[in-house]
Amino acid sequence: MSSEYLLREAGEEDAGEVEVLARLCQPLRASVKGTYEYLAICFPRYFLVALGPAGMAGFVVGLPSLSGEAWIYQICVHPDHRRRRVGELLMEEELRRFRSDRFPRVRARVLETNQPSLSLMRKMGLRETGRKGEWVELQREL
Ligand SMILES: CC(C)(COP(=O)(O)OP(=O)(O)OC[C@H]1O[C@@H](n2cnc3c(N)ncnc32)[C@H](O)[C@@H]1OP(=O)(O)O)[C@@H](O)C(=O)NCCC(=O)NCCS
Repeated sequence: MSSEYLLREAGEEDAGEVEVLARLCQPLRASVKGTYEYLAICFPRYFLVALGPAGMAGFVVGLPSLSGEAWIYQICVHPDHRRRRVGELLMEEELRRFRSDRFPRVRARVLETNQPSLSLMRKMGLRETGRKGEWVELQREL
C-alpha cells in the first residue's frame, strides 16, 4: 500500500519545526532546537522526518551507541496524523537502516504508562527486557 507520507533525512534547518512538533507529543520530553540541530548534523542517517501533504507529520531520532547498539531516542507523530501508520513507517525505515548498517540489536526505553508507544514498539518486534523505575526497557535482535 502506498502512503501519503514521504520520509527523508532531517537537516539542521528542520530543527525548529521538529521542536514545535515534539512539544505536541507528550509524554515525550521535547529537546530544544539546538539539540535537534546537532542530532541532524551528527546522525542524519537515523534522524528521519515524515512529510505529509501539509508539512511535517512526524519524526524519529535513532542514536548509535559507542558500544555498538542502536537506540530509538524519540519518535513522535503530530496528533492530527496519528493512527495512519506514520509511526510504523518511521520505525520500519529506521530498523531497515540499523539492520543494513549491521547493528546487532535495537533498544528503547518507554514510560510504562505510554500505551501507544509500547504497543508500537511491540508491533515492531521489540520485547520487554526489564524495568528501570517508571521505564520499560525493550529490545529486538536485528
Ligand atoms: C506512539 C506514536 C508515535 C504512534 O504513532 P502513530 O503514527 O499514531 O502510530 P501508527 O498509526 O503507525 O500505529 C502503529 C501501531 O502503534 C500502536 N498504537 C498507535 N497508537 C496507539 C494508541 N493510541 N493506542 C494503542 N496502540 C497504539 C498500535 O500497535 C498500532 O498498530 P495497529 O494500528 O495495528 O493497532 C504516537 O502516538 C505519538 O507520537 N505519541 C506521543 C509521543 C511518544 O509518546 N513517543 C514515544 C516516546 S519517545
